[in-house]
Amino acid sequence: MGFTYHLALLLLLSAVSAQLSGHVGPTSSLESKQSKICNVLDYGGCIGSSDIGPAITSAFTDCVLNNSGSTLYVPAGDYDMKTWVNLSGGTQWAFRLDGLISRAATTGGNMIAIEDADDFEFYSANSAGGIQGFGYQCRNAGPRLIRIVTSTNWSVHDLILVDSPEFHLVIQEGFNGEVYNMAIRGANIGGSDGIDVWGTNHWIHDIEVTNRDECVTVKSPASNIQVERIWCNQSGGSAIGSLSDGTAIEDVLYRYVYTNGGNQALMIKSNLGSGYVRNVVFDHFISRGTAYGLDINQYWASQTPGSGDGVQLSNISFSSWDGNVADGVARPPIQLICADGAPCFDITLTDVYMWSETDQAIVKCESAYGSGVSCIQSGPTHTSYAVVTASVTKPSGYTSPATMSGDLSTGFATDVAIPTPTIPTSFFPGLPQISPLAKNL
Ligand SMILES: *[C@@H]1O[C@H](CO)[C@@H](O)[C@H](O)[C@H]1NC(C)=O
Ligand SMILES: *[C@@H]1O[C@H](CO)[C@@H](O)[C@H](O)[C@H]1NC(C)=O
Ligand SMILES: *[C@@H]1O[C@H](CO)[C@@H](O)[C@H](O)[C@H]1NC(C)=O
Ligand SMILES: *[C@@H]1O[C@H](CO)[C@@H](O)[C@H](O)[C@H]1NC(C)=O
Ligand SMILES: *[C@@H]1O[C@H](CO)[C@@H](O)[C@H](O)[C@H]1NC(C)=O
Repeated sequence: MGFTYHLALLLLLSAVSAQLSGHVGPTSSLESKQSKICNVLDYGGCIGSSDIGPAITSAFTDCVLNNSGSTLYVPAGDYDMKTWVNLSGGTQWAFRLDGLISRAATTGGNMIAIEDADDFEFYSANSAGGIQGFGYQCRNAGPRLIRIVTSTNWSVHDLILVDSPEFHLVIQEGFNGEVYNMAIRGANIGGSDGIDVWGTNHWIHDIEVTNRDECVTVKSPASNIQVERIWCNQSGGSAIGSLSDGTAIEDVLYRYVYTNGGNQALMIKSNLGSGYVRNVVFDHFISRGTAYGLDINQYWASQTPGSGDGVQLSNISFSSWDGNVADGVARPPIQLICADGAPCFDITLTDVYMWSETDQAIVKCESAYGSGVSCIQSGPTHTSYAVVTASVTKPSGYTSPATMSGDLSTGFATDVAIPTPTIPTSFFPGLPQISPLAKNL
């Protein structure tokens, strides 16, 4: 990796426009949130507590909300939690979670919901705090771990989320959010989503997800979402979807996404429905041994069909991909199955080198217009056409995809506790993280 490589990388970086529409993250510094420290140990909590929930709520209600520029502090140590918290409406505040909280009740909802926060930072200063969900005890019948709802100008970083009974981190609407330096480790089973995000102008970067469902997935409605330096470590893979009626997604950039094993390198999934997905770039993907590779499926059988003729996909480009699937004949490394009632167009693949571990592959297209794969059609009129299957030979630009040290070869079991990981410092082969871990600052 010499000078030429770096020069090429710089040129590529400048060629791909970023998709954020302005500043993300808290508007004021962390220092400005330390005029008052609201320590849960002063609000009825203790290290080793069997339910730290009420102390978190008291520290928030009686201290954070009464003191502008304050930090809710959970010191290092182990805590159980039985009462979920909903911290609603704070401005210019931080939640410093240095301890590890373990789920000790099966109530649904969200263990920690942050709602309508503005100028907010949720982090762990020792890069070791977070939540252990022990999801194996109540699979798909317990809480999600963290939900950030209609919040503005915020960040979540340096947290570890383990084995949620349901999803790990959900970002619901809001704008100007930043999520980074996270390790998310779920079980090898569906319903274990890593990060689901929708809203406006959010930046998700330097994330590792191990699970068997969504890695980092954009949902509707969304605009100006940038996702980069993502390590899907034996995960379900990243996606846009599932999409149905009234979809509105535009200006999304995914780049530097590394996927080892799991379902797909990237999937856009819907089943009929209406609305649009447009102006999306997927740049610099590396994937190894996934089931599907680059996968658009607008007749995705796992989803109930929407009432419209199909979500309109347009101006979607894929560039600089290197990857393989497990069996390229059973499941194509490239498949563009668009809706017959809304053929997709301006779908362009440039330097997309996808192949198969079995050394044999097919590609499939249906009602797809654009360039860069043999089965796609071109031209200004976009009429529906039935599925076209073409056999392909190994692409000339294909090289065996890079590996990351610490790749998993199988996922974590679903019936025992999953060990708590540490947060890595690199999330894509050859690239450092964008911001150092908080513990190294
Ligand atoms: C915090 O503010 C609330 C409402 O503004 C008030 O009722 C409460 O007494 C205050 N608590 C403290 C500890 O100042
Ligand atoms: C949080 O509390 C607010 C106000 O009390 C309520 O409107 C909202 O539904 C709650 N959110 C969640 C996610 O429980
Ligand atoms: C969020 O930050 C922007 C500046 O980046 C500021 O204009 C805005 O007032 C902040 N808060 C809200 C709720 O919009
Ligand atoms: C296509 O999408 C790219 C990336 O979002 C954008 O820069 C470009 O303007 C779009 N082109 C059209 C014709 O909308
Ligand atoms: C990814 O898998 C490797 C191998 O087990 C493990 O060392 C690493 O911690 C995993 N990452 C996460 C976030 O679980």
